Amino acid sequence: KGSKAMNLAVIGAGYVGLVTGACLADVGNRVHCVDRDAARLHLLRGGHLPIYEPGLDTLVARNAAAGRLVFTDDLPAAVADADAVFIAVGTPSREDGAADIGQVLQAAGDVARSATRDLLVVVKSTVPVGTCDRVREVVEAELARRGAPCELRVASNPEFLKEGHAVEDFQRPDRIVIGTSDDDDGALLRALYAPYNRNHDRLICMDIRSAEFTKYASNAMLAARISLMNELACLAEKVDADIESVRRGTGADPRIGYDFLYAGAGYGGSCLPKDVRALIRLADEYGAAADILGSVQAVNLRQRTLLYEKLERFFRGRLAGRTIAVWGLAFKPATDDIREAPSIDLIGRLLRAGASVRGYDPVAGANALRALGQDGFSIADDARAACRGADALVVMTEWREFKSPDFRGLAQTLRARAVFDARNLYDPAYVRSCGLHYEGVGRAA
Ligand code: UGA
Repeated sequence: KGSKAMNLAVIGAGYVGLVTGACLADVGNRVHCVDRDAARLHLLRGGHLPIYEPGLDTLVARNAAAGRLVFTDDLPAAVADADAVFIAVGTPSREDGAADIGQVLQAAGDVARSATRDLLVVVKSTVPVGTCDRVREVVEAELARRGAPCELRVASNPEFLKEGHAVEDFQRPDRIVIGTSDDDDGALLRALYAPYNRNHDRLICMDIRSAEFTKYASNAMLAARISLMNELACLAEKVDADIESVRRGTGADPRIGYDFLYAGAGYGGSCLPKDVRALIRLADEYGAAADILGSVQAVNLRQRTLLYEKLERFFRGRLAGRTIAVWGLAFKPATDDIREAPSIDLIGRLLRAGASVRGYDPVAGANALRALGQDGFSIADDARAACRGADALVVMTEWREFKSPDFRGLAQTLRARAVFDARNLYDPAYVRSCGLHYEGVGRAA
């Protein structure tokens, strides 16, 4: 209560923009989602999503049908009566690792070129500290050029959505970070987020630069936790300890906690690797140290070759002519996203070594095929079919349907009777008792 519906524009109908637009429409706002990509708009208008994200399809359908969520390439029309415009465009890595904010500045310029009234420009894209200042410069220059009689202010509102969980994260956030330079802007965003901020205050308000930094700091912290666990896992293997027992024993300390403490094949996805790279570049630019971040990244790169090395060792360097089944191609469960997925690295290496790969993923198969091509790589219809005629199985993503396979059946199917478990999903003793060779990550041989 206490909030009134607003007119909003969201620029960029990608992952973040779609989730943000659909969720904000769902609580009664009128949202224009702007994108230049005609194919994407065509899909969305036909009721189809360009990405797989649980719950998003019904949310988009419901709000599009109610006329509160509109997909358009007409940015001026979308901006014309907006109270706030969210910028949710991509900030890909440049060659040197820095985040490329070109699309953000472009969007800001476009908004300033079309604005007809005062509005708040909210930067949601993940951007280096100082970007909102650049946005403000672009906006002010454009308004001055036009002699426009309106004022555009800029706020930072980073997103903390996890792929596969994004709708839920938006609707039940643990925190909403808002960086503003003006109390009125804070009040507008507070009103906008009121429906998602009910039982206790989850809004954390700060200055703009701190808000920009909070996003990178959060992902740096998460990445560091994973790399530390991965480093400990490699050591555990050497000293014959089991990282899964160690995880339970350490996670029990509430200061450490169980979440995000899983050793594996290295972190992937569109955020962690890119954001760590960008933060290192930012530190470099300002002459600050980034020793830990550098190590976090180095450990991750090494970890991403681990499964390949295990396979190479098992087959005594002779991978050519082998067929390897790979379960799980997405960088994590509940998404079809394969960006920087460790599985794609692994499969590329296997193919280069002359092996064939039969992959299976509940939703990411088509994306993997597009990325890897068909030379030696094929997609199976189901998990079991992927193993037919294969020498060994590697499990790369912890989709629920991989949690308790028929190991006795696998021992019959897999020619070399070997299972490589990049997510430590299985009980080593049980898998071995079924007649299979088992290797996890950070577990005694
Ligand atoms: C991440 C953050 O978790 C979100 O809070 C953030 O909003 C988002 O980036 C973003 O910047 O937009 P996401 O990339 O969707 O979310 O995926 P995560 O669940 O964080 O997983 C990242 C990678 O770490 C995956 O490859 C996953 O397999 C790996 N991981 C995760 C581990 O290896 N071990 C763990 O214990 C947890």
